[in-house]
Amino acid sequence: MRFLLLLTFLLSVAFSADHGLFKDCSRVPFCTNFRHLQLNENDQFKAQISSLAQDNNVAKIALTDGKNRQLELQITFLQGRKLRLKVLEKNNPRYELQHVLEKDPQIISHNSQSQSEDAVTLVASNGDSSKVVIRKGPPMTVEFYNNDVLEVIFDASRLVLDNTEQSQALSFDVSFPGAKQLFGLHHHATKIALPNTADGSMDPFKLKNSDTAGYEVGSPMALYGSKPILCGQSTTKTACAFIHNAAQAWVDIDYSTQDKPSGHFMLEGGSLDIFVLLGPTTKEVVRQITDLTGKAHLPQLWALGYHQSRYSYATQSEVLEVISRMDQEDFPMDAIWLDIDYTDGKRYFTWNRNNFPDPVQMQKTIASTNRKLVSIQDPHIKVDDNYAVYTGAKDRYFIKNPNGTDFQGDCWPGRSSYIDFLSDAGRDYWASWYAYDKFVGSTETLAGTWNDMNEPSVFNAYEDENSLPHDVLENGNVKHRDVMNLYGFLQSKASHQGLMQRDEGKKRPFVLSRSHFVGSQRYAAIWSGDNRAEWPYLTTSYSECMLSNLLGHVFCGADIGGFDWNTPDNLMLRWYQAAVWLPFFRSHSNNNVNRREPYMFYDEMKVVARKAMKTRYRYIPVFYTLFYLHTKYGDPVVRPLFYDYPERIDDDQYILVGSDILATPVFQVDFSSVDVHFPGDNNVRWYRADQDWAVYYGGDTREISAPYDISPVFHKGGSIIPLKDDVKRSTTDMIDTSYTLYVNLDSNGHAEGLLYGDDFTSFEYSNNNKFYLLKFTYNDNNLKIEKIDGDLDYNGSFNNVVVHRASLSDPSEVVRTVHNSTIDGTSLKDLNFGLLFSNATSLTLNL
Ligand code: GLC
Repeated sequence: MRFLLLLTFLLSVAFSADHGLFKDCSRVPFCTNFRHLQLNENDQFKAQISSLAQDNNVAKIALTDGKNRQLELQITFLQGRKLRLKVLEKNNPRYELQHVLEKDPQIISHNSQSQSEDAVTLVASNGDSSKVVIRKGPPMTVEFYNNDVLEVIFDASRLVLDNTEQSQALSFDVSFPGAKQLFGLHHHATKIALPNTADGSMDPFKLKNSDTAGYEVGSPMALYGSKPILCGQSTTKTACAFIHNAAQAWVDIDYSTQDKPSGHFMLEGGSLDIFVLLGPTTKEVVRQITDLTGKAHLPQLWALGYHQSRYSYATQSEVLEVISRMDQEDFPMDAIWLDIDYTDGKRYFTWNRNNFPDPVQMQKTIASTNRKLVSIQDPHIKVDDNYAVYTGAKDRYFIKNPNGTDFQGDCWPGRSSYIDFLSDAGRDYWASWYAYDKFVGSTETLAGTWNDMNEPSVFNAYEDENSLPHDVLENGNVKHRDVMNLYGFLQSKASHQGLMQRDEGKKRPFVLSRSHFVGSQRYAAIWSGDNRAEWPYLTTSYSECMLSNLLGHVFCGADIGGFDWNTPDNLMLRWYQAAVWLPFFRSHSNNNVNRREPYMFYDEMKVVARKAMKTRYRYIPVFYTLFYLHTKYGDPVVRPLFYDYPERIDDDQYILVGSDILATPVFQVDFSSVDVHFPGDNNVRWYRADQDWAVYYGGDTREISAPYDISPVFHKGGSIIPLKDDVKRSTTDMIDTSYTLYVNLDSNGHAEGLLYGDDFTSFEYSNNNKFYLLKFTYNDNNLKIEKIDGDLDYNGSFNNVVVHRASLSDPSEVVRTVHNSTIDGTSLKDLNFGLLFSNATSLTLNL
């Protein structure tokens, strides 16, 4: 099966993107220059150790090469095993990236532990375990240690900072001693474990946000977003280097020095500014990334439900018909989407009044079904002197040509100018358009915004790979070259601000953005753009979203069914089943493919799609609780196996939802089983939750049956999972329904779990502690329920408590006990936690 997966990945490369349009390294001068660069000793920098000076907790050391060029190395120790390395030139000011860090990192002091002519050792002075050794060279190296274990090396063997009129490109190397796999550099349609590129077998990984419709699976070509974070992982440690730079980047991955895999970074501009994150576990590096770049706030509950989209629902009546047919056929759904055709001639914040004569009435009807509406607002603004969004921004808030005029390029509306989101005034201007009195016809039911084409896409800019030219100016005098990958991030920031203002900070904004950068999680969810109705795109949707989660961006998904092409039935069903486990759950399709709302399917397919969608709704409490844990700790919502089982490198076809749910969907046509190699040691139990509750043990490999209507999912022994089994038409309809507690005992007869809740809409949870976090603990037939955090009283109820345990006499047998009648004389069905708690914060039930 492994072989087949690989084959499918490789075959997909045959369907290619436009290689004339998207440049490979050989057509990009700085990439060609740096890729095979070998510096002789005279051109390599060495560290003048004796020049070490301290300046406000920043260690500074002069670097010189044989030609007497001078640079300055700066090292700063940050709270929580994080460090910052900068290399600066004296007479070459470079753009320093703004906006990406959530706040100024907390600096800690350090001491110089030992110093010779050849090296100096710096250690954190607060007992933190990080240590840095700077070695003279040439080439100069900086070694980063955690607890005396060498994790990351910055080396100057190919350190170059161009300093000419034409170029400020830079190159350097970072290696990860002892790493077994490198991962990171989202967004590419590749497996999480990055392959070798330095041997020339493939291009370096490219990071340049681009409108790459028809992108290839298995290719290092750039996609819509960029997260320049590279990590090294082994069974004993994980560490990362986050390149704080939003210019176009290329990275060669090199495993040839087996004990020291490395990334050779080649950037077009910006500063040399790196955060080194010392883990030492994958869990800790994810926390270190989100410490620096922020966490997503909770989504409103509806945003975790099913979204139905298409390019485009063209009329008001069509929108309402989709909802009513979804209801008639019992498909749960939370939001319907409007793509570009709802507008008056692709003028965002307006309506095509022929097709949408009464958008307010339409939204009232949508609201009466407890659904929401999301509409698209792209960043290109039609050049039209009768269009208020344009005239208000003309000569003020658009990106400029070098001569100071507004830049114009083609996109959906024809001639367009592009909002300058790097400027505060540009963002404020954009944000102001979300106000109800400016976006006339919008109401609170229009609950979210979709920002597309925000790499940004410019149709008539072939030389610039259909995006903005490198020399256009943002925020006055910043060259686009230096902030190239930040445009989508900044549009998300402005849209988020717009919804916050519109809703007076009372509702959590929902923004979906195609383009993104590190830190975008603070503002927007993302999806993987224009994928296709082919199996490898389904497979890669898992790799892409799990990787995004590891780099801090948790709210991600992919167009169910594939955006382009008609979807074969079998693929469609498998896609629904798999998409259940990705945080963002939306069906979307191009305007030239067959209609594919689930009620369009034939009867047998409908049953399967409905079952998958209802599974999603049953598990929404789990997703919501995991999102809460993300807001608090920065932890990923979904994870590849190696997050919890470091030895399970390269297993992208499995997904962990939190730590307790393992899903192993089918990614192959005509497969009716999956070979599952269960994670963990033999003590770890996995109970099959989609079917018969059979138990499996860590370390075993089993062929798990998965005919077309079944997608295997397992609950980990030791977990208690609260689900909402009574699925209704939307999350709003389910707010007051009961929970069933699934208790899955481990080998000690123990289990525990969490349930988080709040008002599902506002920021009261973070502003005023208005939430509850319940902890369930099961031991010796006793179920303890306690409130462990939050000031809100829990007022829900639960239906059943279902306990699964492996039989003592035959460990392959599961004993299942359903407690659905009475406990302590009270009918479980009517049991209400709120009443039960009365004044206590915990309660124990004897089952
Ligand atoms: C882009 C988007 C796609 C959208 C279309 C029209 O191709 O990626 O999702 O439907 O534009 O707006």
